[in-house]
Amino acid sequence: MRITRAQMVTSTIAATATLALIPGIALAQPSHPLPAPPGPVAHPTHPVTPGSGIPADSLRALGAKVGLRIGTAVNADELASDSTYDSITAQQFSTVTAENVMKWDTIEPTQGQYNFGPADQLVAFAEAHGQLVRGHNLVWQNQQPAWFTAEAASLTPDQVKTILKQHIISEVSHFKGKIWQWDVVNEPFNEDGTFTNNIWYQKLGADYIADAFMWAHEADPKAKLFLNDYNLEYTGTKSNAALAFVKQLKAEGVPIDGVGFETHLDTQYGQPDLLNNLQRFAAADFDVAITEADVRTTLPVTAIEQSAQNADYSLSLQACLQVSRCISYTVWGFDDQFSWVPGTFAGEGAADIYNDFQPKPQYYTLQQDLELATGSAPRVRR
Ligand code: XIL
Repeated sequence: MRITRAQMVTSTIAATATLALIPGIALAQPSHPLPAPPGPVAHPTHPVTPGSGIPADSLRALGAKVGLRIGTAVNADELASDSTYDSITAQQFSTVTAENVMKWDTIEPTQGQYNFGPADQLVAFAEAHGQLVRGHNLVWQNQQPAWFTAEAASLTPDQVKTILKQHIISEVSHFKGKIWQWDVVNEPFNEDGTFTNNIWYQKLGADYIADAFMWAHEADPKAKLFLNDYNLEYTGTKSNAALAFVKQLKAEGVPIDGVGFETHLDTQYGQPDLLNNLQRFAAADFDVAITEADVRTTLPVTAIEQSAQNADYSLSLQACLQVSRCISYTVWGFDDQFSWVPGTFAGEGAADIYNDFQPKPQYYTLQQDLELATGSAPRVRR
């Protein structure tokens, strides 16, 4: 007998409850009832049916059956040099994100001299393999070019604004028509819901955010424009502030289409009430997307941590599957060999769904969730 999605979710909740009994694994109980079955299917704006040569049990093919694009961040060096990396990227994913090469420090290493080559290669790869591209990112306090950080403090607000506008218009114009979703503003909030005190905020106040969206829209009116941040998965001060802010932007007519939930989870912090948060942003008429999913843990990985990692991957994918406005589910790289986690979080790792190009249990968890979702009522697309 085929297991319905509702039954699958119930069994995951039972498994989650078991994990919560184990000290150190503080897993929150989902507090929201399962949503009503979705209504009739509308055609997605971007068809997700993959071409030939894509395995029927790949994440992208299974995602296509339920109208959800499955993506990965891509390491440009690996893409350029490793055919195994390339074939997994092509076969398993229908969306790609540049892990680094669309960030400002790569794009404009010297003022006025652009280095679009590595990102162009990714876009060409995506076109060759029927994939859409998430552009990441236009405005962020990290990975800014050295020429800018060196002079930023001494610039006037008008000068900073001119430089930011120039950067956004140049980059978005270069990729015009080739980007599905742009992360226009990345990580603008602190944990307490205040704005990150970056150079943009210091010089321009919060207006830099609305301006960035308007410039990006001017340069590519068809791209979906996102604000992207971490820890929005949890209900609390940060996601409350982000929701209030994006609603205000929309009310003011700022062209913002969506909100990206990075979803960098860690087994030691328990599970977020992600479904509730996706739903409340969707209810405010935003597209939402899981943009950087990974689940790190302390090394070496114990059996219980491995279970918790599977449960966390499952929670994030199932939450996205249950929200029709959740338009893509992207992992932040697919293989532990190239993960950003060990370099950023001391003693942690094993955050991805492959290692040494072999699928891990986390991969099979995602695959199974997608398979089971095809047994339920189709997702409604808007
Ligand atoms: C990370 C990359 O994965 C690393 O290779 C790089 O050294 C630093 O940035 N949130 C984001 C991503 O929005 O851009 C970050 O990517 C991870 C956290």
